[in-house]
Amino acid sequence: MDLQNYLRTQQTEVDRALDRFLPKASVKPATIHRAMRYSLFAGGKRLRPILCLDAAEACSGLTESAMPLACALECIHTYSLIHDDLPSMDNDDFRRGRATCHKVFGEGIAILAGDALLTIAFEIAAQAEAWPRYDLREILLEISAAAGSRKLIAGQVADLEGEGRPSSRAQLRYIHENKTAALLTTAVRLGAMSANATPTQLSAMSDFGRALGLAFQVIDDVLDVTQTSEKLGKSAGKDAAAQKATYPAVIGLDKSRAEAGRLTRQAHEALQPLGKKADTLHALANHLLEREY
Ligand code: IPE
Ligand code: IPE
Ligand code: MG
Ligand code: MG
Ligand code: MG
Repeated sequence: MDLQNYLRTQQTEVDRALDRFLPKASVKPATIHRAMRYSLFAGGKRLRPILCLDAAEACSGLTESAMPLACALECIHTYSLIHDDLPSMDNDDFRRGRATCHKVFGEGIAILAGDALLTIAFEIAAQAEAWPRYDLREILLEISAAAGSRKLIAGQVADLEGEGRPSSRAQLRYIHENKTAALLTTAVRLGAMSANATPTQLSAMSDFGRALGLAFQVIDDVLDVTQTSEKLGKSAGKDAAAQKATYPAVIGLDKSRAEAGRLTRQAHEALQPLGKKADTLHALANHLLEREY
């Protein structure tokens, strides 16, 4: 399988669907719709939507049924990036290869663009069909839990509060699990739910998503140290400058890479109950471990 080619095709599909779900840039007030689209269509990897679609396929579902959920996840993710970059948070000027939302539109509009992307995620998710085992109520509860103050926001709070302080591995794990792994886990769980997954399949996805999500954030921390801003499309070297609690800072680069490898093996093992159908997810897990941006 040509994974690069496959990823490009999936990215195009996701972008098309997002374009249909988002108000056009000319819709009043145009500023907010331009700002939302500016950050959303800046060229993200679309990892969460692709994982959602692949998880649906791994559970014998249709990607069309998973698409609204995939798009909702990308809106939540993009909102979290816009807010993450704000001067009062990570204070970043560069994201997805261009100036950050607040640099172009100002802080007020950037905050509102984040708010609007988070809100529209629920509007989009509500357009998903219901499946015999999982009704819309369950889907919406899944999304709100992942994005809420006990998961994604909890991780962001701990990330901010961890700046400039010595961190234990347990604190680090808490940050990664919540700020990143929670949404990745929900991505594969929603894909599985859209395929009317059995409880065994859903539980395999939860284990896969958690291990993959943790590995993903460890690698994100490593790349911040080892890559250039040009390659990443976001400012490198910022974590050390801000004295963030990261794996490289706490256990060093080599052990961080080894940890990411161990977590990726755990992710592969979690997929065992799904058999051959999970081949694409296996390939994605390897790709994310070896990625350079
Ligand atoms: C960046 O996520 C933020 C983290 C949770 C590490 P991605 O690396 O998926 O960013 P995009 O979507 O490709 O821009
Ligand atoms: C961001 O983590 C996590 C969320 C946005 C929820 P980081 O702060 O490490 O992400 P980057 O490195 O800015 O993309
Ligand atoms: Mg951050
Ligand atoms: Mg950041
Ligand atoms: Mg980072």
